Amino acid sequence: MTTENENENNKKIPKHLAIILDGNGRWAKKRHLPRLLGHRAGLRKLENMVRLVKREGIRYFSVYAFSTENWTRPKMEVDGLMSLFRFYIRHKVEEIKAEGARIRFCGRKNKIPEDLLEQMNWAEEYTKDQNILDFILCINYGGRAEIIDAVNKIIDSGQKNITEEDLRKNFYLPDVPDPDLIIRTSGELRLSNFWLWESAYSEYYFTDTYWPDFDEAELKKALEDYAGRDRRYGGLKK
Ligand code: FPP
Repeated sequence: MTTENENENNKKIPKHLAIILDGNGRWAKKRHLPRLLGHRAGLRKLENMVRLVKREGIRYFSVYAFSTENWTRPKMEVDGLMSLFRFYIRHKVEEIKAEGARIRFCGRKNKIPEDLLEQMNWAEEYTKDQNILDFILCINYGGRAEIIDAVNKIIDSGQKNITEEDLRKNFYLPDVPDPDLIIRTSGELRLSNFWLWESAYSEYYFTDTYWPDFDEAELKKALEDYAGRDRRYGGLKK
């Protein structure tokens, strides 16, 4: 389900760009600030990134904002992140909509505070007709959880044998194509349970830059690198 995309200069661009937003904590620590201020700086960076990504002609932009494992962080940090998500929805959805972007959330809906869940549903409904960019916020997302949830749905339906397509149809966002490029900031070299199934043929780009410092020049560098990759999906070189 991955499709090649080109911009007006015939440059290969990812149709779906995914970013693992990492390094907020270390960004804050370097400045002797509380971790939450690192997340706040990360949020600010994200606001601008939506515009930049849209300008590059990318159709789907997903970010790993909170994993199924992140609940194990100290309560103060978890609560602070939930408040940042609330802030974002309350104050930024209008701007996102004006950019022609549709907001979508991806992940398990359990554990998320009720009021935040209501805001998330509202934001999705309010922006659902925008069709220039799908901005996907992965919150309480885990690739393993997504696969397990899909399998359980299929079991509930009584089906005995499944195909890859059956599984895909039961994922959280079945219409979203697989990520073409996954960027991870902050120097960590792992996927951490993000788009586990969907990343089978994704290209990866790692940078040492902490997420709050990731800027337009960094994005362009990653996209330039991607444009030069030769994707074969297990086949032979053309
Ligand atoms: C990882 O950095 C980052 C997170 C767990 C949270 C990312 C969230 C944001 C940038 C806020 C986004 C807001 C919205 C609305 C999506 P880390 O804390 O693991 O950093 P560290 O590895 O340096 O400690």
